[in-house]
Amino acid sequence: MTVAAATPDDVEALTQLELESFPGESWTADYLRVAIDGQMPTIRVRSLRVAQEVVGYAIVSVVFEVAELQRVAVAPAYRRRGLARALVADVVSMAAAEGAERLLLEVAESNAAARALYASLGFVEIDRRERYYRDGATAVVLELDLHNVEHG
Ligand SMILES: CC(C)(COP(=O)(O)OP(=O)(O)OC[C@H]1O[C@@H](n2cnc3c(N)ncnc32)[C@H](O)[C@@H]1OP(=O)(O)O)[C@@H](O)C(=O)NCCC(=O)NCCS
Repeated sequence: MTVAAATPDDVEALTQLELESFPGESWTADYLRVAIDGQMPTIRVRSLRVAQEVVGYAIVSVVFEVAELQRVAVAPAYRRRGLARALVADVVSMAAAEGAERLLLEVAESNAAARALYASLGFVEIDRRERYYRDGATAVVLELDLHNVEHG
């Protein structure tokens, strides 16, 4: 398993993962291509590969002291193997290395899998946003303090 910067060759796999993982809210191939090409200077796209195949990814923005985890997803057939944990760990150390002090994210109140993942990594709830998603669901805003994160 490896986690590395996404390349233009990953756009197709990431588009498919978006459709599977965020139905109704998925980002388009064009948007992903622009993000991967580096045309959004604050955005980093990380691909996770198992045996050369892209089976997960994370997208994070880093703006001075605040990083935001915008996306993390793992292909359904590869879930519950610790891959999302590895992706978030990668994002955490990268954001800390770039000088971020906090990592924020929004997660649907009903997304038990993701909420359990973030709780196990030490994220804490700091806010709630009602009707945040297109389907009217509430978002829970979580934060991880990056001050004590080891980074290379
Ligand atoms: C959420 C998601 C990224 C988790 O990916 P994953 O690779 O299966 O997660 P991991 O195997 O790294 O799980 C780490 C921990 O998270 C928790 N967790 C993950 N999936 C869970 C589930 N379905 N139910 C309960 N807890 C879960 C567990 O604590 C797990 O540790 P354990 O397996 O030792 O018990 C994946 O389910 C996914 O892609 N979902 C769709 C997209 C999504 O909702 N992304 C998050 C948006 S905020």
